[in-house]
Amino acid sequence: MRVLVVGQGAREHAIAWKLRQSPLVKEIYAAPGNAGIAQVADCVNIGVADIIEIADFAEKLKMDLTVVGPELPLTLGIVDEFKMRDLPIFGPSRLAAELEGSKVFSKDFMRKYKIPTADAIICNSTDEAKAALKKTSYPAVIKAEGLAGGKGVVIVKSVKEADDYLHVIFDDKKFGNAGNRILIEEYLTGEEVSFMVITDGKKFAPLAPAKDYKKAFDGESGPNTGGMGAHSPAVILKPETAAEIVKTIIIPTIHGMAEEGRTYTGCLYAGLMLTPKGPRVLEFNCRFGDPETQVQMLRLEDDLADLLLRVTSGDMGETKLNWKKEAAACVVIAVDGYPDDHLKGQEVAIDPIEDPNIVLFHAGTVKRGGKLLNNAGRVISVCSHASTLSEALAKVYQAAPKIRFEGARYRRDIGYRALEQHKQAVRA
Ligand code: AMP
Ligand code: GLY
Repeated sequence: MRVLVVGQGAREHAIAWKLRQSPLVKEIYAAPGNAGIAQVADCVNIGVADIIEIADFAEKLKMDLTVVGPELPLTLGIVDEFKMRDLPIFGPSRLAAELEGSKVFSKDFMRKYKIPTADAIICNSTDEAKAALKKTSYPAVIKAEGLAGGKGVVIVKSVKEADDYLHVIFDDKKFGNAGNRILIEEYLTGEEVSFMVITDGKKFAPLAPAKDYKKAFDGESGPNTGGMGAHSPAVILKPETAAEIVKTIIIPTIHGMAEEGRTYTGCLYAGLMLTPKGPRVLEFNCRFGDPETQVQMLRLEDDLADLLLRVTSGDMGETKLNWKKEAAACVVIAVDGYPDDHLKGQEVAIDPIEDPNIVLFHAGTVKRGGKLLNNAGRVISVCSHASTLSEALAKVYQAAPKIRFEGARYRRDIGYRALEQHKQAVRA
C-alpha cells in the first residue's frame, strides 16, 4: 500500500519509521517531511496547513492511507476534505478536533459530561479577566483558548504577574486570534502523565502510557514547551489508576463526543495530572503526542499500518495492542532560546553512534547544499530502548552530545525523578 504522512516533526519521523517496518507498506510519502523523514519516505513540499493541496496530492497518487501528525490540519478540516473525496485518512474531523482546537469547547464539554478537570473561568476580554483574577487564588493558570504549540499556558503566582500576562495576550496579541478568549484555571498539583487511545468512535485501544517533560529546563522549571523528553512506561502510573482513567475520562469522552454529533476517530490524547483527588484532565489533544510517539513507536510490537487502516475503515474490532517489555526513552535536542526566539540555519553535525539501540528522529532539520541545517526549535529526538528505563536513559544521554550545532541544548534530568519515585514505591 501507499501511505502519506502529514507533518514535519520527530513524531512524524517515528510514525514513518514504524510504517516502514510493515510488510503491507510499499511506498511512503511525507508532506512536507524533514531531512530525517527523507531517509524513509519521499518528501513533497506541501505545508501542513495546505489541506486542499495535500488532498489533491493524495487523490492523484491514490493513497491507501493518510496519517496526520499535527493538530493544525486537523482543526482546519483535513479529514473532512479527504472523506468528501473518499480518501482513507486517520484522524478526527474538524468538529471532533475542537476538543484540542478550543480549550473553551473542551472545558464546556468536560463539565457537561462530568469528566474530571480543573475548575476554570472563561473570559472574553481583559475586563472580564481582571475581574476574575481578583477572585482567584494563586498560583493560577492562564490559558489561551486556541492553538499555541503548547506554549499558550502560563502559571502566574500573583495578580501582578497575571495582569502582565493579560497584556501579552490581549494587547500584544502574542497568540493572535488564539488568544481572543482565555481560561483562568485552578492550579493542580501532582504528577503529569499522557494517556492516549486509538479509537474508531466506538471501540478503543489504549497506547502504552508515556511521561512527557514539558518544561524547558531541568527540575521542571522555565516556560512550557512542546515537550523536551519522554519515556514509556510512564513508571508512576499504576494499573488501577489507568483503569480509573479509562472509566472516568476516556469512555465518557468517546461517548460524549458521539452524543454531541462529533464522533471522535483517530488518536485521543488526554494530558492528565494525577492529583491526590484522582486523575484530572489538563488538556485534550486530537493527535499523537510529540515526543511521546517517539517512545511509543519504539515499544509497539504490532503492525502500525494494519492498525491505522482498521481504525480508518470505521471498525477496529476488538483490538488489544502489544508492547515490548522493554522501556524506551527520548531526549529532545533543542536550540538555546526555544520556546522563544532562537537561532536557525546552523549546521548540524551527527558524530558516529555505535550503539545499535539508538534511534534518531529528526524534527527541525533540512538538507541544503549537501549540509544538514537546523530550521526549528526542536531539532532531533535522541531515543533508545533497553530492558530497564535507567539503561535506556543512560544510552540516550551517552548519545546526546553526538548531536552538535551552535546553541544545542537539552534537559539533563529526563526520567530521573520518575525512577527515584519508582524506587521509593518499590521499597515502601
Ligand atoms: P495544556 O496545554 O493545557 O496541557 O498545558 C500545558 C502544561 O501546563 C501542562 O502540561 C501542565 O504542565 C501545565 N498546566 C496546565 N494546566 C494546569 C493546571 N490546571 N494546573 C497545573 N499545571 C497546569
Ligand atoms: N508532548 C505534548 C504534546 O504532544 O502536546
